[in-house]
Amino acid sequence: MSKIIETDVLIIGSGFAGLLAAIKLLESGARVVLACKTYLSESSTNYAQGGIAATTDGGSFKAIELHLEDTLNAGAGLVDEKIAAEIIASSWPLIQELKEYSVTFDYLADGSFSLTREGGHSTARVYHYQDITGKSISHGLIDKLKHLQSLSKDRAQLRIYENKLAYSLIMFDGTCWGAKFIANESGNQPSNASKELTTILAKHTILATGGIGQVFSRTTNPAVATGDGIGLAYEVGAELIDMEFVQFHPTALHLKKESETPAFLISEAVRGAGAILLDINHDRFMQRFHPAGELATRDIVSQAIYRVMQETHQRSVFLDLRPIGKDILEKKFPNIVHKLKDYGIEAFKEPVPVSPAAHYFMGGIKAECNGRTSIPFLYAIGECACTGLHGANRLASNSLLEAGVMALKAAQFITEQNDNRERTMPNTQVQSESMPSYNKPPDLLAVRHAMSQEVGIIRSAESLGKALTLFNDSLITNTYSVENIQAANILLLAKLITASALRREESRGSHFRADFPNMDKKFVCRQIVTREGYTWTNTADQKLSAK
Ligand code: FAD
Ligand code: SIN
Repeated sequence: MSKIIETDVLIIGSGFAGLLAAIKLLESGARVVLACKTYLSESSTNYAQGGIAATTDGGSFKAIELHLEDTLNAGAGLVDEKIAAEIIASSWPLIQELKEYSVTFDYLADGSFSLTREGGHSTARVYHYQDITGKSISHGLIDKLKHLQSLSKDRAQLRIYENKLAYSLIMFDGTCWGAKFIANESGNQPSNASKELTTILAKHTILATGGIGQVFSRTTNPAVATGDGIGLAYEVGAELIDMEFVQFHPTALHLKKESETPAFLISEAVRGAGAILLDINHDRFMQRFHPAGELATRDIVSQAIYRVMQETHQRSVFLDLRPIGKDILEKKFPNIVHKLKDYGIEAFKEPVPVSPAAHYFMGGIKAECNGRTSIPFLYAIGECACTGLHGANRLASNSLLEAGVMALKAAQFITEQNDNRERTMPNTQVQSESMPSYNKPPDLLAVRHAMSQEVGIIRSAESLGKALTLFNDSLITNTYSVENIQAANILLLAKLITASALRREESRGSHFRADFPNMDKKFVCRQIVTREGYTWTNTADQKLSAK
């Protein structure tokens, strides 16, 4: 049996993007359903450490120019400059908005923001709360949302569904009308859970489902990051873009038990504060690879660590936090210090073993700044979307910025449009895309392992081909279960990332091909993929903005 619920706006995902969009839409009077896979606060957002990159100087023209310049440099020729300028210009107002929503930041004694610096930034411009900025955002926004809910007299104004997993988008006449959900009962799924299905019909559907880290065996991303929203959009024919670009964070804690997932992140902000990278012989090595040393962009630092690991025949290098000094470490990075202690590592006394891990997805559902996708009334915001801000490599802490700005712009756009869509929702004629169906369960461990080994920091035609063969041989059952739906999405994402990486025969940003180690001018373009196949497009994509 399927329960049917109607609303104005369905938001799938309760990270920064989903929560902020929900708040703004509620404030504008729209009826909102917010659904998430587990519970409201479980998201990548909740684990974000370093902070939000935003302009300083109250958003002066010069500050915007500098932030844009760093973003363009990091993105290795594929940043959409117009989009980047729009998002960066909105960063200062975003910070002001968050302050109003009781999101806590660190301040200096004179009342100004305490700012940190991360790799690729020419100045300190990362707004943060200790090393738990994500918790501050997530909890602040959830409190605000619950407060708005308590003020509303209409119980249908905001409905929150936790433990609901979206498995299919509802399409009618080529446009999106909501999504179908299956109950997610802590992984303990009955094999036929049809009783648990919920249909949510909505005039506007926002995907805010976050990243894809769980497609890799070594990742900093929480278990919810299985790329579901991207899979859902692809299945209904939406355009995806930049799928070959996965960012590997250089410094995830490397434990003996390598399979620990997610790997605990040690924020880049510690390098901004003076931490250094050492090899097994305790020699500093980053200067050999880039004049900016430990503060080079993430692609350069991850690739350098990988090479040093190969040279020294080790599975990790070391991050030495001691140059920061005990007082500052304790004050600015209390979470990192305590977590390391839990793992038996004294950050004040010894260097910490680290190695790169899949961290952020630059690619995703092709979207405008306001979240519009190639499917009418379907929006994508936050990490599942790709606007072109990040190009081939994201500048550190630009993702929370993008998620927040997209949420504000999507909410504003929908508010302006809301009454323009027929109020009568499709009913009996609802056409729903069926779940992806396959024949036998994939060996997910093997798929994830192949992604980290063959489609990781260093790729080649040989390694990518080997991975694709494995993925093409991996099929899953059509049994309805949360596990199978997520597995289908992981497998789909693995195939699309690998096939896109195979087609880009050059090295650029986070995508390094051992068989094509240089940038190639003929690849200053981006790849779009749909169910119909692959096409290349120019960097400042005109098609969407002209729509
Ligand atoms: P998320 O916060 O990932 O939320 C996704 C939501 O979608 C969740 O609620 C999930 O339950 C839901 N969902 C997913 N699939 C489904 C489904 N099928 N059905 C229903 N719900 C679903 N970026 C920065 O800019 N600065 C940082 O300091 C920083 N630190 C980071 C540290 C870590 C450890 C990690 C993992 C990432 C970090 N990032 C950082 C990246 C940043 O946190 C994310 O890009 C950002 O939080 C994504 O926000 P989001 O709202 O798009 O998605
Ligand atoms: C970090 O704190 O190093 C993560 C920042 C980011 O992912 O942007």
